[in-house]
Amino acid sequence: MGDGILDKINRPLKDLRLSVTDRCNFRCRYCMPEEIFGHDYPFLTSDKILSFEETERLTRIFVNLGVRKVRITGGEPLLRKNLPQLIHSLNSIEKVEDISITTNGSLLKKFAPLLFEAGLRRVTVSLDSLNDERFYQMNGNKSKVSKVLDGIQAASEVGLKVKVNMVVQKGKNDQDIIPMASYFKKNKHTLRFIEYMDVGNSNGWSMTEVVTKQEILERIGEIMPLELIEPNYVGEVATRYRYIDSDQEIGIISSVTDAFCSTCSRARVSAEGKLYTCLFASEGYDLRHLLRSEKSDEEITNKISDIWNRRIDRYSDERSNGNSPKNRDKVEMSHIGG
Ligand code: GTP
Ligand code: 5AD
Ligand code: SF4
Ligand code: SF4
Repeated sequence: MGDGILDKINRPLKDLRLSVTDRCNFRCRYCMPEEIFGHDYPFLTSDKILSFEETERLTRIFVNLGVRKVRITGGEPLLRKNLPQLIHSLNSIEKVEDISITTNGSLLKKFAPLLFEAGLRRVTVSLDSLNDERFYQMNGNKSKVSKVLDGIQAASEVGLKVKVNMVVQKGKNDQDIIPMASYFKKNKHTLRFIEYMDVGNSNGWSMTEVVTKQEILERIGEIMPLELIEPNYVGEVATRYRYIDSDQEIGIISSVTDAFCSTCSRARVSAEGKLYTCLFASEGYDLRHLLRSEKSDEEITNKISDIWNRRIDRYSDERSNGNSPKNRDKVEMSHIGG
C-alpha cells in the first residue's frame, strides 16, 4: 500500500494519537470530575487494553497509510507499565518522524531519564496554574504545583524539549494567564493556552467559561507585546506568537472561537483499540477485534483506509457555525486522549 490517503474533504492522515490507558492520577474538573470518575467508575481491565505488540503492529499499519507523527496520551500515559519500552519500539519504526507524549507531569521526574533513553525527545506537560490552591481546585486535589514543575525541570535537564499546555477556564484560573506567561517566558518553555472545550459529557461545559483566544492575546499583549509567527507545519493546532522583545514563543489553541478542522489530519486510537476520527466523536471503530482475529495487515489497512476515506468530521467548525449536533453522547477525553 502506497503512502497517503485522503478523507472526504481532502484531508490526509498524518498524525496518530494513541491513548495507552484510560486511568489518571488527577481528577481535573474539566476532564475527569471525581463525582463521575470516582471509586466505582468502570475503567478498562488489562485484557481489554491493547498490548504493546498490538499497538506497535497497528502503528506500522498507520504509518503505511501516511502517519508521520505519533503522540502517546491517556488518561495519564506514565501510569502505563513499562511505557518507555513502547516508546522505544515505536521510535524504531521507519518513517515515524516525531514521537511525543502528553502528560500531567506528576511522574515525570522519575520517568524523564528512562523516556530519553528510550528515544523520546520531547514532552508536552499540562499545567493550569502556578498557585497551589487553584491548581488543587483544577486537578481535584491531587497534586501541588511543585511536583509538576520538578517534572518539567527533570525533563528539561535530561534533554527533552518541553511544551506546556494550560486549559483556561473563566473564573477558575484566568488570573493565572499572565503569571504563567511570565514564568515560562523566563524559563524558556513554549506555553500554549487552550480554550476550554466541550469534550465529553461530564464537565458541564458552558460558553460563559471560555476565555477566547482574542482575550488571552489582549491580556498578555498589554504587558508583553506579541507578534504573530508562521506555523511550524500545515495543520498545527496552535497559532504561534512571539514576544517582541525575545525569541520566546507562545501558542493559542482556539478550537472554540477559531476552529481548525479544515486541516485536521489526526486519527485517535483509545487504549482498548477503538479508532476515532474526531475528538468529539461518539462512536469508535473496534480495531482490537480485528487485531485479535486472523485478519492480515492488509485487511486491517484496507478497513482503516475505508474509514478514513469516508471521514467527514468537522465538529468544531460546525459548533462555530451553530450547527453542532445537540444532546449526543461524546466520548470522554480521558478515553480518547487529548
Ligand atoms: P505539537 O506536535 O507539539 O504541535 O502538538 P499538538 O499541538 O498537535 O498536540 P497537543 O497534544 O499538545 O495539543 C494540544 C491540545 O490541543 C490538546 O490537548 C487538545 O486540547 C487540543 N487539540 C489537539 N488536537 C485537537 C483536535 O484535533 N481538535 C480539537 N478540537 N482540539 C485538539
Ligand atoms: N478543554 C480543553 N482542554 C482539555 N484538556 C482536557 N480536557 C479539556 C477540555 N475540556 C487538555 C488537558 C491536557 C490535554 C490532554 O487536554 O489539560 O492538556
Ligand atoms: Fe488526567 Fe489530563 Fe484528564 Fe487532567 S486532563 S484528569 S491530567 S487526563
Ligand atoms: Fe479534528 Fe474533530 Fe478537532 Fe475538528 S473537532 S479539529 S475534525 S478532531
